[in-house]
Amino acid sequence: MLPVRLDRDDQRPLGAQLADQVRRLVLDGALERGDRLPATRRLAADLGISRGVVEQAFDQLRAEGWLEARRGAGSWVAGGSVAAARAPARRRTASVAAPLVMMDAGTPWIDPRHAATWRRAWREVSAATPPRGYDDPRGLPDLRQLVAERLGRQRGLAVDADAVRITGGTTAGLRHLLAVLPAGPVAVEDPGYRAAVATVRECGREVRDLPALAAVTDLAGCAAAYVTPAHQHPLGRVMPADDRLALLAAARAADALVVEDDYDSEFRYDVAPVPALTALDPDRVAYLGTASKAVLPSLRLGWAVLPDRLAERFDRHREVTHDAPPWPVQRAMVTLLRDGYVDAVVRSARRVYAERAPRVVTALSPYATLAGPVAGMYATWLLPHERAVAARDAAERAGFRVNLLRDYCRRAGLAGLVVGFGGPTDEELDRALDVLVQVLRRAGEQAPPSRG
Ligand SMILES: Cc1ncc(COP(=O)(O)O)c(C=O)c1O
Repeated sequence: MLPVRLDRDDQRPLGAQLADQVRRLVLDGALERGDRLPATRRLAADLGISRGVVEQAFDQLRAEGWLEARRGAGSWVAGGSVAAARAPARRRTASVAAPLVMMDAGTPWIDPRHAATWRRAWREVSAATPPRGYDDPRGLPDLRQLVAERLGRQRGLAVDADAVRITGGTTAGLRHLLAVLPAGPVAVEDPGYRAAVATVRECGREVRDLPALAAVTDLAGCAAAYVTPAHQHPLGRVMPADDRLALLAAARAADALVVEDDYDSEFRYDVAPVPALTALDPDRVAYLGTASKAVLPSLRLGWAVLPDRLAERFDRHREVTHDAPPWPVQRAMVTLLRDGYVDAVVRSARRVYAERAPRVVTALSPYATLAGPVAGMYATWLLPHERAVAARDAAERAGFRVNLLRDYCRRAGLAGLVVGFGGPTDEELDRALDVLVQVLRRAGEQAPPSRG
């Protein structure tokens, strides 16, 4: 019998508790490389839980590389990376190839309890017959219908399926938009979304800096302005109503398009999601949504709602370039939306983030200042650059990737850390926070606090 104790009063799902404890047993050396785990049926009976819960926990540990399965023979503790993680001298240093635990702004927490729906979606894909030719460049009609319904429910956007385009994610949507916009620079928030900056430049356009927290009053000469109104990336602010109106007025005056990147608005746990900017002026704003937070970034799927005047050119561009998201991914997303997977994953991730965010805030607020409200799966901290670098480096030596705020800045010159909390397990998050706190506490003892 594994020395595992599940707590039914704990808010965390039983499967997550089981996975955490098995991971701990491996890390502590109580389970060693090659040790065989009990059969799922027996362990489920011993723990008084369903076998599905044990299977989900084991699936999660296999996906993380802690366990491996041998067909028909059960699960075993995996080799390589586990031994590296356990041996203190070799613990995930930069020279060891073990992957870092991503504590960036973009790695979401995915509830393993919903893995059955995920698998069902892909089974449906394998049973379906793909189209023989190139499909509708706008995306699968069923998917556009489901996305339109969801946008109405979640984002207050009254659109029908014909208004929705399926994209390969936010940056793919942006790339296609840039292909059909008139020439001219694109204004992007500073600090702002690095992949958007890179996409604009890759498309051969100049990036203009929009100070992230200031009202935009002048877009003269710009083809577009790229903004994150629901949750400024990465400072966290919600764009105030006056600034929304000023931005739309500036865009109208310059005949520029506003591109609304609505990447994580569903993950608010303090207030209800802030309505989309697009709802204020659908003729002036192109809306970009993504499955990267609610499902997975590796899915490479998103959606766009465009002003009518751009839609036809956008479709033609995609048709002639054959540049639309793969059919299997779209088909799987139909099932994931239709069967409630996306809503369920978002609901449980929101609960996890709501529980983790205060842990991060409590741990780090003695040493740094929050740049803005915490929502979604990350918190951004202002602190002197050298301290931020020391904390980032220490985290990396301990096996965690945390990003510097400076890396999101072009001219803004802000310093600090962007600490994501969707990627780690609970136990990893505690370890990472310990590392950050130790470094920041030491730095604070050596020098009086200052702002960076
Ligand atoms: C600001 C912002 N926008 C959009 C995305 C998602 O982009 P994509 O849909 O291309 O994965 C992310 C992901 O981290 C993001 O941080």
